[in-house]
Amino acid sequence: MMVCEYKPGLEGIAAAQSSISNVDGQKGILEYRGIRIEELAEKSTFLETAYLLIWGQLPTSEELKEFEHEVRHHRRIKYRIRDMMKCFPESGHPMDALQASAAALGLFYSRRDLHNPIYIRDAVVRLLATIPTMVAAFQLMRKGNDPVRPRDDLDYSANFLYMLSEKEPDPLAARIFDVCLILHAEHTMNASTFSARVTASTLTDPYAVVASAVGTLGGPLHGGANEEVIQMLEEIGSIANVRPYLEDCLERKAKIMGFGHRVYKVKDPRATILQDLAQQLFAKFGSDKYYDIAVEMERVVEEKLGHKGIYPNVDFYSGLVYAKLGIPTDLFTPIFAIARVTGWLAHWKEQLAENRIFRPTQVYNGLHEIAYTAIEER
Ligand code: SDX
Repeated sequence: MMVCEYKPGLEGIAAAQSSISNVDGQKGILEYRGIRIEELAEKSTFLETAYLLIWGQLPTSEELKEFEHEVRHHRRIKYRIRDMMKCFPESGHPMDALQASAAALGLFYSRRDLHNPIYIRDAVVRLLATIPTMVAAFQLMRKGNDPVRPRDDLDYSANFLYMLSEKEPDPLAARIFDVCLILHAEHTMNASTFSARVTASTLTDPYAVVASAVGTLGGPLHGGANEEVIQMLEEIGSIANVRPYLEDCLERKAKIMGFGHRVYKVKDPRATILQDLAQQLFAKFGSDKYYDIAVEMERVVEEKLGHKGIYPNVDFYSGLVYAKLGIPTDLFTPIFAIARVTGWLAHWKEQLAENRIFRPTQVYNGLHEIAYTAIEER
């Protein structure tokens, strides 16, 4: 009998060959298609980065113009999707609303030839364009308001912030938000991307691929940690309480949200950039007491857990940026999804290019040859 090794969490197991992104977890390096994340954060836009990730190279200015134009003109959602979303309970989590809405897109754009470049382009554009509209629509409708129509004259990020508040955002705020989307767009074989690739490998439609990935992203060990970070900072409440709070967590063996990573054993490079973005926002719009608590947390966690390679991850400082932009806490993870749909789509395309259905094995540790016991004898 063949004996296979079981690795909890598939740690260290390669699930695919990929040329989309790369992480060096010892040096704290992240590259998209070979380009360092710091450079993209400084020079690129979210849509240009999305193009790079999905089509493998930076677009020419003509290609970018055309792509931006297509995304801009597909932002509206069908009234039936909007009406369906109106029926969602207002107490429901926006990630659940997004997962249901993304899956519902598949009802309207059913599976066609998955290898047809026109179908692929159409699905990419539609998902990138409508997911922000769906997130913003649920936010307004759960408060009893009509959704705000997207504005074609605004760029991708400015339009999303506008749809949330019906106010044109400050240009610095819109740029910072756009950089946040770049930072969250892709990250090798994380849990939601793995989920997307498994779903893609069955040759189902891209809406099902994205819906399954959204469901995976929502958990607190993955994208959902960004919400929990803000709740934790509120609970800590003061710099003086940081150390006792953390010591209590460590004693209870509770995980400290926003810290630790399967791959990074140093500070996540995205956390460094997000921290800088938070500071830029505070310089323009006023400081935030939770930022000082966060910095003290980083210091104490490093002192206590640095030897285990536990440092801030992408979810630690992102919430402080979003909160300063006036975004409600439970939209932080849907915003992660708005960005990460790019990575999921890039992996969907890559999976289809050399597909084999995922069908791993297991190590059975149950019983054999057990006789059936009649119900009255149990
Ligand atoms: C994301 O994978 C990706 O790329 C994900 C992501 C992306 O862009 O897609 O980067 C986004 O999901 C970021 C991670 C968000 N999650 C959190 O912030 C939740 C808190 N972090 C952890 O639960 C944890 O660090 C994980 C889930 C991120 C990683 O889990 P692992 O690799 O399975 O590590 P582990 O839980 O087995 O921990 C290993 C050791 C343990 O100590 P020992 O038992 O060996 O002594 O490190 C300790 C853990 O107790 N540890 C922590 C800790 N994280 C790890 N201890 C306290 N607090 C933490 N946060």
